[in-house]
Amino acid sequence: MDVEKFVERAINEIREKVGNGKAIIALSGGVDSSVCATLAYKAIGDRLIPVFVDTGLMRLGEPERIKETFSHMNLVFVDARDEFLSALKGVTDPEEKRKVVGELFVRVFERVAEEHRAEYLIQGTIYPDVIESMGGIKSHHNVGGFPIRYKFKDVIEPIRELYKDEVREVARYLGLPPEISERMPFPGPGLAVRICGEVTPEKVEVVRKANAIVEEELKDYKKWQAFAALIGKATGVKGDLRVYGYIIAVRAVDSRDGMTADPIRIEHEKLRKIALRITGEIPEVVRVVYDVTPKPPATIEFE
Ligand code: XMP
Repeated sequence: MDVEKFVERAINEIREKVGNGKAIIALSGGVDSSVCATLAYKAIGDRLIPVFVDTGLMRLGEPERIKETFSHMNLVFVDARDEFLSALKGVTDPEEKRKVVGELFVRVFERVAEEHRAEYLIQGTIYPDVIESMGGIKSHHNVGGFPIRYKFKDVIEPIRELYKDEVREVARYLGLPPEISERMPFPGPGLAVRICGEVTPEKVEVVRKANAIVEEELKDYKKWQAFAALIGKATGVKGDLRVYGYIIAVRAVDSRDGMTADPIRIEHEKLRKIALRITGEIPEVVRVVYDVTPKPPATIEFE
């Protein structure tokens, strides 16, 4: 791929399609939507409306980081944490969770599009998303992929032909900071698919803290993704008491495009340190396990 040519073409495409109109994009803080927003901002400047919806299912410090990174744009920040947590109450099926989060996301997003009278939608769909949704493996891989009732004149997907490593190359070329260009993929439904079973505020807080520890401890490892998931409950001893607490699974895999994946090799001492930190720093957790299953047959996420 010739990055320079790609960027030039993408900017021209956006400029041509949007004309004098306004375009809206949902920012997730990930590399895909960040690259698209940057391309679109170069193409149409303040006629781009970047929107960030805080679902309450983001990683530790992520909403704050996004506000800071895109402060030069007219970022629309929507705090919808309570709405998402109430919508997820009682929902246990993984695909149902995706549906609930996706549909609510679209509704919130539509509200903003309507308020700003945006005519065009820009989406960070990449090539593997296109392939997987054609195969029907998941109901979607992009929260923005849900049917939108709001009538846009057109949907623009500037990076739909790129693989993840190519998107990162473009991000570096565009001068995006390494926290974005090298950022691990994070699912649209967020921490909701890193909690097996029902999502509760307590579980979200626990998995968020555990995830931050895993990311910090494994930051120097070569990987596609490294994260924590809350996979159930088990018995443990804390102090002198037997307690029934949460089980955290550590997942760290390498992959080219997310379609297949292999767990990375982590020294025993490191795994032990992670386990001791998670159980020591998060009172609700009694047990930590490392998932050694490749994809296939396992998926990368737990739900
Ligand atoms: P799986 O779990 O299917 O994940 O092996 C493959 C890649 O896709 C991400 N993923 C998602 N991304 N919405 C997303 O935007 C989703 O519902 C979703 N599910 C999985 C996952 O993090 C991995 O990079």
